[in-house]
Amino acid sequence: MARHIGILTSGGDTPGLNATIRGISKAAMGTHGMTVIGFRDGFKGLMQNRYIPLDRAAVSGILTLGGTILGTSREKPHKMNVGGKRLDMTDAILENIEAHHLDALICLGGGGTQKNALHLHQQGAPVITLPKTIDKDVWGTDTTFGFDTALGIATEAIDRLHSTAHSHHRIIVVELMGHNAGWLALGAGLAGGADVVLVPEIPYDVEAIAATIKRRRAAGSMFSIVAVSEGAVSADDHAAMTAAKARVDASKDDERKQAKQHHAALKAGQGNSTARLSRRLEELTGLETRVTILGHVQRGGTPSAQDRLLATHLGTASTDMIAKGIRGVMVAMVNGEATPVPLEDVAGKRATVPLDHPWIKTARSLGVGLGD
Ligand code: F6P
Repeated sequence: MARHIGILTSGGDTPGLNATIRGISKAAMGTHGMTVIGFRDGFKGLMQNRYIPLDRAAVSGILTLGGTILGTSREKPHKMNVGGKRLDMTDAILENIEAHHLDALICLGGGGTQKNALHLHQQGAPVITLPKTIDKDVWGTDTTFGFDTALGIATEAIDRLHSTAHSHHRIIVVELMGHNAGWLALGAGLAGGADVVLVPEIPYDVEAIAATIKRRRAAGSMFSIVAVSEGAVSADDHAAMTAAKARVDASKDDERKQAKQHHAALKAGQGNSTARLSRRLEELTGLETRVTILGHVQRGGTPSAQDRLLATHLGTASTDMIAKGIRGVMVAMVNGEATPVPLEDVAGKRATVPLDHPWIKTARSLGVGLGD
């Protein structure tokens, strides 16, 4: 019977993490009679044995709080920054799990966390995970907590940009998060009525975007909103990146180092691609253009009702699975049900937007430009 469980939050923070911590702790204590502790700052705090008891007082009043009361980090068990060096701290982590007599360690995280959790599971740790990220790119689950809140924030931002773009007859290019998946930009773009939506899954042609904007102008709309996912790239950049990656894969030793540097430089250059895109659109259309980068505002603040429900549902369900002896899985949302999915199936994969997804079809039917 499971008696002691630990929780950690890893990767970028997300609205709904505290709701999950509360859901897990309340169900673990109340329904299953378990004790719960929370490790600070992800795998780093677990390695350093920094933790707090998650008793009733600790989880009271946190349902609506953004961020994570535990703190988070992007540290990996097998490549941890210790005094400026990257070291494999897996053994230290396993020792702490043992010292606390943990029957289960629940890791709340996105794609990277699933990989780290699988690594620990393969080394014998009793791991179970929950899918959190505003990017909705975790494989094996219908959705992730944090996404709905970020979608709401991004949609409201696009709503607000509309009135100023309209008043000044401008193009506003708004960059949204999402890593290498277009869920957030596409969802918020559709919900906010963007005229062009650019996602990483569809490399764009700037001339095609300009043509969409010119068509709007010819039809009497003197402004346009372009919602661009941070991972979106032009078709030219995409081709260059693919070629550079192929060179890295094919090269050896000295040449490989050079090829890697070239690939990294191209990737780093992508950071400015929204500004470049905006300048190019101004040149091609003659319309004044502005850029808004929403950034971390999308990850801040109180979770939406939908995210609170999802987080609480998955959190409580994870304790039932632990009580049944289930380990080595992510507790996913599949057709509205909390479902255990093996970590082996989840780790290392990314759920991007399928090109035949209903949101893509909807965008095309509406005449929203997708840059292709
Ligand atoms: O994965 C969540 C996310 O917000 C991505 O959308 C974004 O690319 C990344 O994290 C930003 O990370 P950081 O907060 O470390 O800058």
